[in-house]
Amino acid sequence: MNKPRVLSGIQPTNGSFHLGNYLGAVKQWVELQESHDAFYCVVDLHALTSSPDPKELRKNTLTSVAQLLALGLNPDHCTLFVQSHVPAHNQLAWVMECMTGMGEASRMTQFKDKSQKTGTDRIGVGVFTYPMLMAADILLYQADQVPVGEDQRQHIELTRDLAERFNTTYGKALTIPEGYILKSGAKIYDLQDPSSKMSKSTESLSGLIEILDTPEVNTKKIKSAITDTGREIKFHTQEKPGISNLLTIFSALSGKSVTDIEKDFEGKGYGDFKGAVAEVVVEYLRPVRAKALELLDDPTHLSKILHAGAEKAAVVADKTVADVYERIGLIPRA
Ligand code: TYM
Repeated sequence: MNKPRVLSGIQPTNGSFHLGNYLGAVKQWVELQESHDAFYCVVDLHALTSSPDPKELRKNTLTSVAQLLALGLNPDHCTLFVQSHVPAHNQLAWVMECMTGMGEASRMTQFKDKSQKTGTDRIGVGVFTYPMLMAADILLYQADQVPVGEDQRQHIELTRDLAERFNTTYGKALTIPEGYILKSGAKIYDLQDPSSKMSKSTESLSGLIEILDTPEVNTKKIKSAITDTGREIKFHTQEKPGISNLLTIFSALSGKSVTDIEKDFEGKGYGDFKGAVAEVVVEYLRPVRAKALELLDDPTHLSKILHAGAEKAAVVADKTVADVYERIGLIPRA
């Protein structure tokens, strides 16, 4: 197969993905599965860094898979699997950890942010080594591209550095991946605080559009989104961050250009605009929610898809680990 390869991952941290996850990443996953050899994983090992309740984690992992399928992943066109089902992820992660400096790991903004909040003494070591596990996720599959949102850019840079370091020291074994990060939609902002990204770790849920929320809840959240001064519907990230965020969402889900939407709303107010955004979002998500709930009614079907995905993923991942282990001097088990 000569198609370029993509790999990406998503954490099963919450019951539902949010619109940022979809527009920043999963929407591209769906498109790329047609043109690329695509590997997508639910990164349950990464989710352990936030010490989830075991029952919740199990439930959220299956809910994540159901949502990915409902959003358009087709297991005949991509390899969909759960990270912990492929032990090679941990095997390569350790090698990556041994190649990473304390300094460069300490400079990762996600670690810095979290350790500032929690205190360096109390933060888990897993939060610190998280980027090296992510590097392993990507490098195992020799991925050419990694479709993610803007907040993952630094992790991809580290992955590239580690791959280059490995190749220089031990010979070319790893593909140097590139981030596949859109110009528009790579950062969707909180509806109540358009200076922060939409995030599942937000304190208030009112600015978060969840894929599995009911149409009523999402309509209410969009209609009460914070708007800016003035009354024009114009894209201007500095002067109108709230409206610009809504325009980005509207455009990505409707396929209309931002300029065309601005024209449609000339002379109209924020109320009309927010009503229209709510309708586009709710109608887009309505069948997704229904499909995800239907899929969750048949966990055996989901398990079968994951079993087949893990089998396919392991073939590629094990090959990389065997090559890496040999190059670094680990002798194979006889
Ligand atoms: P996670 O689970 O936090 O998010 C999944 C994807 O959603 C994107 N995203 C956003 N995009 C636009 N606007 C937002 N507000 C927004 N919030 C989240 C993220 O950029 C991501 O693409 N470390 C990763 C998971 C991971 C991974 C990997 C990704 C583990 N291994 C290997 C790629 C390749 C994470 O925590 O994503």
